[in-house]
Amino acid sequence: MSAYQFVDHTYDVVVVGAGGSGLRATMGLAEAGLNTACLSKVFPTRSHTVAAQGGISAALGNMGEDDWRFHFYDTIKGSDWLGDQDAIEFMCKEAPSAVLELEHFGVPFSRTEDGRIYQRPFGGMTTHYGKGIAQRTCAAADRTGHAMLHTLYQQSLKHNANFFIEYFAIDLIMQDGECRGVVALDLATGTLHRFRAHMVILATGGYGRAYFSCTSAHTCTGDGGGMVLRAGLPVQDMEFVQFHPTGIYGAGCLITEGVRGEGGILRNADGERFMERYAPNAKDLASRDVVSRSMTIEIREGRGVGADRDHIFLHLEHLGADVIHKRLPGIAETARIFAGVDVTRQPIPVLPTVHYNMGGIPCNVHGEVVTRRGDDANAVVPGLMAVGEAACVSVHGANRLGSNSLLDLVVFGRAAARHCAEVVKPGVGHRALPADAGDFSLSRLDRYRHAKGPQRTAAVRLAMQRVMQNDAAVFRTGSSLEEGCQKLAEVFQGLGEVGLEDRSLIFNTDLIETLELENLLLQAAATIHSARNRTESRGAHAREDFPERDDDEWMKHTLAWVGGDGQVCFDYRPVQLQTLTADVEAVPPKARTY
Ligand code: FUM
Repeated sequence: MSAYQFVDHTYDVVVVGAGGSGLRATMGLAEAGLNTACLSKVFPTRSHTVAAQGGISAALGNMGEDDWRFHFYDTIKGSDWLGDQDAIEFMCKEAPSAVLELEHFGVPFSRTEDGRIYQRPFGGMTTHYGKGIAQRTCAAADRTGHAMLHTLYQQSLKHNANFFIEYFAIDLIMQDGECRGVVALDLATGTLHRFRAHMVILATGGYGRAYFSCTSAHTCTGDGGGMVLRAGLPVQDMEFVQFHPTGIYGAGCLITEGVRGEGGILRNADGERFMERYAPNAKDLASRDVVSRSMTIEIREGRGVGADRDHIFLHLEHLGADVIHKRLPGIAETARIFAGVDVTRQPIPVLPTVHYNMGGIPCNVHGEVVTRRGDDANAVVPGLMAVGEAACVSVHGANRLGSNSLLDLVVFGRAAARHCAEVVKPGVGHRALPADAGDFSLSRLDRYRHAKGPQRTAAVRLAMQRVMQNDAAVFRTGSSLEEGCQKLAEVFQGLGEVGLEDRSLIFNTDLIETLELENLLLQAAATIHSARNRTESRGAHAREDFPERDDDEWMKHTLAWVGGDGQVCFDYRPVQLQTLTADVEAVPPKARTY
């Protein structure tokens, strides 16, 4: 590809993505003395973690009794027993120190009267193994992600991490099954860069934008998952897509679960607090999959609100203006702008909206990417790690509990940095890259850049989003999923027929959106095919034709490989039902009630 020239860089470690997990990893790596580059397609403090509202879970016990073992139990139950119990033990046990560390780094948490970190109740978080309600979610008002992201960026700068901002990572550089680096485009100058590293850590976030209505930023296009799939590696458990119960009707913006944690209530057209029927104990604070399904049933059965009876009301007027302004100022503003509602006087119109991908790049607790090789279901991919929503460790299993995401980011971001500090020695020399390193990325880039087909990228993306929204929704059936798979195959053809108008390399948004679309489409295919393949209901995956959980057949992680044409093939990994240590007992599978 002589038309293009690479600028070459060499680092000990390269992190791709500067959200919560990427920054926590970057900070830890730089602190450990590793020469670290962090690549981000947006300015770090604009990464999607900035939108996280309600808080970060940790059994600090600041506002009542708590224990990390209760948190461990809740997370397993929330995961509908698809979560790996060793990884869940690791996360819940590490949570208090990870949060206190954030406090010491400078995160401006809200405070109790006696000056401790303020904690609010969140869905599925209990004490004494389901008996009481835990106040476990540590909050900086309703802007917790914002506070964390700014602090972690500042800490990374303090430790002299090197940032490559507005660099779009295109592909991994693989050599004989090992990751040797990454190829990226500098959006501002149009120059192409090859980053060689002993370890590449993908921290690229989720792929919420595969759906029409989501709480995710437009940047959430699953770029790491796309790179991994093109490298011939699998993604895991992609059928499990979380719908957050309270996205603003029409706009999709997040209204934090913290609203219900502070006492907010969902009501139907009859004014009924219907969650009392579906979850008599937890009510509005049942886990998200349960609340989203209950809302969908209310709407289907004609008890939705509004002219079309197609949404639900979230009431918080009764909390009083003082509580709202102190604890929930951000959502008061969001509701005013996006729903035209004064939350001190009116309910917010809400609807379940795609929010989080439980699935992702399979990893172990150190963040090392794993795959199945023959009988080895935990074969490590040398040189490659993943953290955050891009990864599937799996601590969330089939359904994530609210506020366990920010926790996952910092616990596994930190663990990844620690692991690298053990296995990568600062400044150790690198082998030369293969002569053709990066050629694959250049040919993809060049093909799209000069594509002259009749289809517009935006139209192909919209077609994909509609398929996913309609056919891989809160409730799924074999026939809707089958139809969705067929329609998505047509969308894939559309990608092959796109035409771009901008042929430049400088801030060519047409080109970047097309590369992002390919990443989204690969993961949309993994999602809808995996959903069709899994003939049971578990967590967020609710099959109307298979309404029961089937532990005999399906207590296993799905691995999905996706070809460039959208064809998907499967294998599996066992769920880890053993704990990491004897500090806690494993939780055997049982039916979930709330
Ligand atoms: O509702 C929320 O504030 C979202 C939190 C989360 O997804 O963890």
